[in-house]
Amino acid sequence: MTTSATGDLRTRVAIIGAGPAGMLLSHLLASEGVESVVVESRSQEYVAGRIRAGILEQSTVDLLRSAGLADRLAREGHEHRGIYLQWPHERHHLDFVDLTGRSVWVYGQTEVQKDLVAARTAAGQQVHYEVSDTALHDVDTDHPSVTFADSDGRPRRVTAEVVVGCDGSFGPSRAAVPDGVRSTWEKTYPYSWLGILADVPPSTDELIYAWHPDGFAMHSMRSSTVSRLYLQVPNGTDAQSWSDDRIWESLATRLGHGQDGWQLTPGPITEKSVLPMRSYVQTPMRHGRLFLAGDAAHIVPPTGAKGLNLAVADVGLLAPALVDLLSKDDARLADAYSATALRRVWRCTHFSWWMTTMLHTSGDPFDEQLQLSQLRWVTSSAAGATGLAENYAGLPIGF
Ligand code: FAD
Ligand code: DHB
Repeated sequence: MTTSATGDLRTRVAIIGAGPAGMLLSHLLASEGVESVVVESRSQEYVAGRIRAGILEQSTVDLLRSAGLADRLAREGHEHRGIYLQWPHERHHLDFVDLTGRSVWVYGQTEVQKDLVAARTAAGQQVHYEVSDTALHDVDTDHPSVTFADSDGRPRRVTAEVVVGCDGSFGPSRAAVPDGVRSTWEKTYPYSWLGILADVPPSTDELIYAWHPDGFAMHSMRSSTVSRLYLQVPNGTDAQSWSDDRIWESLATRLGHGQDGWQLTPGPITEKSVLPMRSYVQTPMRHGRLFLAGDAAHIVPPTGAKGLNLAVADVGLLAPALVDLLSKDDARLADAYSATALRRVWRCTHFSWWMTTMLHTSGDPFDEQLQLSQLRWVTSSAAGATGLAENYAGLPIGF
């Protein structure tokens, strides 16, 4: 990387967004000798502190391991064999290891992000935090650039060989693909999640996904002392309008407190927020010298635990493609990136929609009967259970 007298930077890959996609990409590129500069609109602490995903699928764990990023994950993460699926008076365990030979890990996105930041900081990665006015230029030429104002308000420009948009669903990268080139597919759902973090040991050994006439509920966790739970709520719900008592009572009802002696233990709530649910896909994921990865190109509703895993899978494809393009002048993987990544994106988009519509109530009594029939099939048929397990535990990178 070089810096001119005016503060302009030159690098090989300009990465917009220091979330998991952007930081992992910078790490994988650096391990193959390809230098990058990352720009991020938020502070390092804000990005690391955002409470988001909690489940890593097998291929994500494999990739983090092979990248040398899984030491703490091995010590502090918890491997789960499967999940519980339930509806009133019935709880069934699906064992992904028996069904597919693959497992999942409980390890929060906050922890993944901290591990990435620690590794990149140790390696001297240049990350510009708290930038504003990020803009992309000349992405259909071979000298694309990104301009921004740095944290002191000074105008800066990074000129690169490639720009990668890892800037999530609100960043500027997806709109840098011209209108006539891009196609978008979108679906919003008529419900949201109220999520809480609580300082209480989980009341379950593995995650519980519960269908209930009052609405979906889920019991997840972050560690042996911290629980993460979710409730289906109407769109537009204000998290603060739900008292802690009302949250625990609703969770107890929907998760089946007292059913076959199972008890939900409440505890102090330390975080409360509402998450709207949306499916979104933008194609292509490459235009000229601009590549999109993670939430910048696609959003899934959280029910299948796919958002973070999909971002990691994109980067797992993109990093070797950029190494070949920039270090070996071989464009084959880069040319195939969008089509290859989109195969998995659409699989996960379908799975996330399928889990969401199976488990959330809409008030339509006909739909309820179909949901219950589907749940009975998924939990009693080897074919049904294996289909869910294969998608949840995750298909191999490159599927
Ligand atoms: P992000 O993590 O969004 O990172 C993008 C980065 O780009 C951000 O740091 C952002 O500040 C930065 N950026 C944006 N605009 C600019 C700009 N103009 N200039 C520079 N930088 C910019 N997934 C699950 O699997 N399970 C969950 O429970 C779950 N919960 C979620 C809860 C919330 C509230 C949200 C928003 C998402 C959740 N997700 C969940 C999805 C998952 O967290 C994302 O799929 C994952 O973070 C994607 O990583 P990413 O790096 O692509 O994008
Ligand atoms: C978590 C979130 C999910 O969307 C999911 O499907 C499973 C777990 C979590 O935050 O722990």
